[in-house]
Amino acid sequence: MAPRRGGAYNDLPMDALRVHITAYGCQMNRLDAALVAEVMQAAGALIVADAAEADVLLYLTCAVRGHAEDRVFSNLGALAARKRRRPDLVVGLLGCMAQEHGAGALARAPVVDLVCAPGRLADLPDLVARARAGERPVALDPRREESDAGGAASDAALDRIEVGRAPGGEWPGQAYVVAMRGCDNFCAYCVVPYVRGPERSRRPDVILEEARRLVDGGVREITLLGQAVNRYQAAPPQSGASPWRGRAESGGRTWDLADLLAAVAAVPDLARLRFVTSHPGAMTPRLALAFRDVPHVMPHLHMPAQAGSDAVLRRMNRGYTAAEYAARVAMVREAAPEVAVVSDFIVGFPGETAADFEATLDLVRRMRFAAGFVFKYSPRPGTAAAREFPDDVPADQKRRRHQALSEAIAAIAAEENRRFVGRRVRVLVEGASPRPNLHAAGRRLRPGWGQLRGRTPCHRLVVLDGPPELIGREVEAEVVEAGALTLFGRIPEE
Ligand code: 5AD
Ligand code: SF4
Repeated sequence: MAPRRGGAYNDLPMDALRVHITAYGCQMNRLDAALVAEVMQAAGALIVADAAEADVLLYLTCAVRGHAEDRVFSNLGALAARKRRRPDLVVGLLGCMAQEHGAGALARAPVVDLVCAPGRLADLPDLVARARAGERPVALDPRREESDAGGAASDAALDRIEVGRAPGGEWPGQAYVVAMRGCDNFCAYCVVPYVRGPERSRRPDVILEEARRLVDGGVREITLLGQAVNRYQAAPPQSGASPWRGRAESGGRTWDLADLLAAVAAVPDLARLRFVTSHPGAMTPRLALAFRDVPHVMPHLHMPAQAGSDAVLRRMNRGYTAAEYAARVAMVREAAPEVAVVSDFIVGFPGETAADFEATLDLVRRMRFAAGFVFKYSPRPGTAAAREFPDDVPADQKRRRHQALSEAIAAIAAEENRRFVGRRVRVLVEGASPRPNLHAAGRRLRPGWGQLRGRTPCHRLVVLDGPPELIGREVEAEVVEAGALTLFGRIPEE
């Protein structure tokens, strides 16, 4: 994209400043990277892909696990030599670690020149200018207890940037759109409610305007984002009723996620709609039916169980038992049997016994997840778990459980994937395969064809040979082989 000069956010002399953005962590940071690009370009800067060419290095960081934080601090430390050679290099710490560490980050990582919390991205051109003038500015969000409905002013500034920005998704035809900011769940291990502030739902008309613009700009797939996105609750837009028939049945005055999905699904030319992440406690029958009834809502549900032991779930403050989790999955599968359910797990939570861990393995075997992400517990400062429970599961035990659970999930995912062999699936082609010779056996490459990658509706990765014109389009493919992470497809001859 060509840089725009002197945009709406700032008229600072950023011309020709070259900015490099690195995003760690979750999809929210992926989207924030697009917002950072937008504000900096509007101020006249250029976004560059090569960090070595940059005048400004911005890091969108994650505070969810200690080990990810340590990596960021060590990467920052490694910049010291470069900064000595080029003292005018500006290094910015953004994202959740910025809010968590605040000014403390300047002491811990002396190369850092500016600290900018997630809600303050609109101020970034100003912060960069101040850093270039020799200041070390720190822009934080209000602490949760001091915030006015979660920082309404900065949310409005973020909305303005977000509505007009480039997609910033996983591939050019995909975009993330914020449905909710913050979190009020206070799972005992989790730092997010402290660094991303109170839960607030964005207005449906703002979300719809953004979705329409993105689709007009060529986006085919939208993923609505929120820490517990299925808790979405907002006043309906002035113009009207939810397009989904389910609304009339509930008789409510607010929109929930099912209403929002129906409204976004009605944006002309949108092919696929997804949402992450869902909290099991907020999974309603209406939302289960949305999988069945709302066109374009893909059969893919990321709903973390975190553990399979009721005692652990209670200490985690998750608000459900393993049986209740299983019942929610059953409800979804009854409405839409093809939904692929994906979960996160934490192993080695304080007090987790061998029997507790066995209960998690048991849940995995019963739920037959399509995929799962396993994390070793790490105590986060300020959280209830860090305060109340000693981190008493030894590191090697955590490692063994991490491995055993990952293997159990992969084995089941591979079995589930094998059920697709011989079936036809609709693949939305995302781009060229990054490893073009992944599946060499039995290939019949035609002239001009290459190896492509795409996704099924249930979000399984498919690698297939085809012409580059298919990128951004849906194609029907026959699955010929399946691994734990990938399906191999073939475009049928006829
Ligand atoms: N330690 C380990 N994993 C964590 N997660 C969140 N907080 C922690 C923590 N303190 C995991 C959860 C969550 C995912 C994004 O990260 O599984 O779903
Ligand atoms: Fe953290 Fe729980 Fe909120 Fe997810 S739902 S962000 S795990 S507090």
